[in-house]
Amino acid sequence: MKPSAVSGIQHEEPLLFEQAHAESAAIALPGLDAEPPAALAAFARQAPAGIPGLSEPEVVRHFVRLSQWNHGIETGFYPLGSCTMKYNPRVNEQVARLPGLALLHPEQPEETAQGLLGLLFDLQQWLGEIAGLPHVTLQPAAGAHGELTGMMMIRAWHASRGDAKRRKVLVPDSAHGTNPASAVLAGMHTVELKSAPNGRIDLDVLKAHLDDETAALMLTNPNTTGMFESDIAEICRLVHEAGGLVYGDGANLNALVGVARPGDMGIDCLHINVHKTFSTPHGGGGPGAGPVAVCDALAPFLPVPRIEKVGAEDGARYRIVRESPQSIGPVFGGLGQVGVLLRAAAYIMAFGREHLHRIAEDAVLNANYVRARLEGAFHAPFPGLCKHECLFTDEYQHRHGVKTLDIAKRLIDLGFHPMTVYFPLIVHGAMLIEPTETESRETLDAFCDAMLEIARQCEAGEVEDILNAPRLPIRRRLDETQAARRPVLVWNDRPTTANEAG
Ligand SMILES: Cc1ncc(COP(=O)(O)O)c(C=O)c1O
Repeated sequence: MKPSAVSGIQHEEPLLFEQAHAESAAIALPGLDAEPPAALAAFARQAPAGIPGLSEPEVVRHFVRLSQWNHGIETGFYPLGSCTMKYNPRVNEQVARLPGLALLHPEQPEETAQGLLGLLFDLQQWLGEIAGLPHVTLQPAAGAHGELTGMMMIRAWHASRGDAKRRKVLVPDSAHGTNPASAVLAGMHTVELKSAPNGRIDLDVLKAHLDDETAALMLTNPNTTGMFESDIAEICRLVHEAGGLVYGDGANLNALVGVARPGDMGIDCLHINVHKTFSTPHGGGGPGAGPVAVCDALAPFLPVPRIEKVGAEDGARYRIVRESPQSIGPVFGGLGQVGVLLRAAAYIMAFGREHLHRIAEDAVLNANYVRARLEGAFHAPFPGLCKHECLFTDEYQHRHGVKTLDIAKRLIDLGFHPMTVYFPLIVHGAMLIEPTETESRETLDAFCDAMLEIARQCEAGEVEDILNAPRLPIRRRLDETQAARRPVLVWNDRPTTANEAG
């Protein structure tokens, strides 16, 4: 097996403050030669800022060394379920860096930015077509931000119909935590729907909760167990009949893109994590983008600014619409995370309308390949074909004293980023594996071999390496009790006094 992540020797890396030595500071600032204005005097610094004295090479080397501690999709397989950690092709980077796009200023006159506006307009259209929901905002900066935007639009729609009491949002217990959080931020309250034993929506439970206060159902399809909600048409019909709307969490669009359209299933509003489905890089907090596509009824409530096309194909111009009477207003600066959106546009263009379906087909094939190889060795709570990710639990390994966390830590020693652990919450000891379409069969086999070896070691009682993993990286397993009870979150150059330490 080829180790795919652990490479080179890692040394302990002191903080910049610990490396500092004032005499080699890269920049020496002159002393202050003016008194601060009286109004600001109270805020004036009384002592030096404490910026560490370091030369430029020392700073650069520090950060490059730290970056080498990271596992990224460019260093190895990253099967983090629900996160779609797919490879971001280099051509995406080239497109996003083209000076004619990258050097534009968000506030420059639209007449001088027609190329970029045209490209973003096309992206709006493509995403609308992919979602089966024709009206799109590119503004939201992430999936969760898209959820908030969508819920704000849904709330505005109910209010516009004089039905402002509809504030109840139904959220299945398998949903991502951002769903209820976004609904609450938008001024709604949530009710959790218990899933059926097969991990899908229980129609009777849904029916029991639908009433004249229901604003929406938030639904992820395929859901976070990797299963397609096969009753989706009936689910949407029931919610609509009760006067609510269906919000689609499109984080799992990788299973459907180019093959099936959420809008055709009855979904009214969908966010698209372009940093997942369309390969733009993510992790470490961003940046991402979460465009939202909506049905006709919600279109008047879309955020502004939006891009509009004026005129026919040949002489078409693009303009930025900054005001719209029923709009919920801006949810982000400018037109959105343009650099991320450009990478997504490049990924879509690389496949084209004709071949886009191959993304979903290959992603689903890869997930089922992994599922088929691991089934039997690991417990599958919902057996049978999955979509773009497969779910296992630690039930078999638990009998030998090995938990999901131990398996994840052991994978690090074997050169792989662990899968998503303990999510979704509706199964005990969840391990959610999402290989994506960008991995080769050789890589999938190497990962499956590692997993099967862990399962074999458990059966044979050879669990020491697993329980003590990871041994190879510079950071070993944390003492989780101490980390929770006495977290050390800040560096302090002042020696801790006995009092503080106690
Ligand atoms: C199912 C699901 N919904 C929503 C989100 C939130 O997306 P983002 O991280 O872009 O805010 C995620 C993120 O992992 C997710 O997996």
